Amino acid sequence: MSDRYLDFTQSAFGKSLSGLLGLPTPPRLKRAEAAYCARPLDGRGVMLGSSGRGELAAVLLTALKESGATVQIAASLVGLAAIKAASAATGVALKTEANPEDRAAAASAFVFDATGVAGPASLRELYDFMQPRVGRIPANGRVLILSRAPVDAGNPSATAAAAALRGFVRSFAKEIGKKGATANLLEVGLGADDALAGPLRFFLSEHSAYITGQTLGLTAPSADPGDRFFAPLSGKVAVVTGAARGIGAAIAATLAREGAKVVGIDRPQEEGALGETLSAFGGYGLALDITAADAPQRIASELLSRFGGADIVVHNAGITRDKMLKNMAPHLWDMVLDVNFGAILRINDALLNEGLNDGARMVCISSIGGIAGNAGQTNYGATKAGVMGYVEALAATMAKRGGAINAVAPGFIETAMTAQMPTGPREVGRRLASLGQGGLPIDIAEAVTFLASPLAAAVNGRTLRVCGQNFVGA
Ligand code: NAI
Repeated sequence: MSDRYLDFTQSAFGKSLSGLLGLPTPPRLKRAEAAYCARPLDGRGVMLGSSGRGELAAVLLTALKESGATVQIAASLVGLAAIKAASAATGVALKTEANPEDRAAAASAFVFDATGVAGPASLRELYDFMQPRVGRIPANGRVLILSRAPVDAGNPSATAAAAALRGFVRSFAKEIGKKGATANLLEVGLGADDALAGPLRFFLSEHSAYITGQTLGLTAPSADPGDRFFAPLSGKVAVVTGAARGIGAAIAATLAREGAKVVGIDRPQEEGALGETLSAFGGYGLALDITAADAPQRIASELLSRFGGADIVVHNAGITRDKMLKNMAPHLWDMVLDVNFGAILRINDALLNEGLNDGARMVCISSIGGIAGNAGQTNYGATKAGVMGYVEALAATMAKRGGAINAVAPGFIETAMTAQMPTGPREVGRRLASLGQGGLPIDIAEAVTFLASPLAAAVNGRTLRVCGQNFVGA
């Protein structure tokens, strides 16, 4: 369903009328129009800053250069020595920060290495980097801060300062969202430095257009992340549940866009729609109800016999059956628990036994409803929070096999599910995000594809919100 208010405020008349009335004008988000390429930041300026004792400059310079970006610096900033030393060591050239009036050369992204932040006083280094540049962040610009995880920071003062960065990013994202710009924080765990290139490409490009205000933890990868960023899923077999329509269809298409062979699953009554969706990119359909008693074994056997096993598993199928708990009949509880939660665990048990290749990556679709809770969704909220707990619990098992499992928590996404909402709550759902609009299925698909790929080799056991920083559960 299209967002008519957003479309209206993007017209010349709508823009001036909404300005006159003081109404919000949601930005038009720039989304990726094609698959990952070898140099997704080609020709773009990235302004790099660092705390005095930042540790990531060399890794950042190399990754930014290889992605096509030109790295800019400012002489007045405290972390310059660390960046210059890294430039000398890596041979990556630095440019003086472009004049903001020079639109073509001005930075479109701002990256700050905060790994050296040791306490409240050194947070001032971040302020000194970001504050003078707020007005220079362009429409759809990117801000990315990197820190050590609070647990790795070493002492209470550094731990507290690392935690403070989360609050900074959450607040700052709310300030710049009206431009369609995003701010996110990567907490780089020990042993994860060399796996930064993939997350940088995702968070600094249009592939992450609807993600803002988020903190994502990186840990030492269980497998070599490699350095192939073009067609990262070629040769992989991916299975997606609920692939006939909505978010699942977008996930299936986006995995295929990056080179995967896709097996789509949906209920027998959706067989026609499933076939139509998959035929667009040569996918293989499996019409079955994931809650059927024989579903786990059928899926595992089909994957093994036809494709030699799966490398990517996306548990997307989900339903809502909303009722206040006092009015909720037991079958509504059971149905939601079974589709959204029980089936995932049963299918994975079968796949862990057979049908899953070494290095396999799984992604489960949760919801911000599982974080915030909604009246009338005790069943749904339980399943979506359960999924987040499940990925945390299974992460170590997946890592032992060289793979990973993560969750994506969508916010308000424009699908058949949300089109059925009454107008009032639907409009509130859209505008309650820092980016002022609902997301599109492609936004979830981009996040799933990132997590399913070697770009996210250092991400395991995490839940990534893709919600435009919806205030629900923020
Ligand atoms: P949708 O209702 O448009 O599509 C869900 C698909 O799953 C359908 O094709 C359906 O036939 C399939 N499915 C349902 N039960 C199944 C079963 N027993 N076996 C096999 N397939 C089954 O839903 P939408 O909006 O695309 O949602 C996808 C996922 O995203 C769900 O897990 C949902 O909870 C989650 N989500 C969606 C949000 C939104 O705003 N649309 C927000 C937060 C989470």
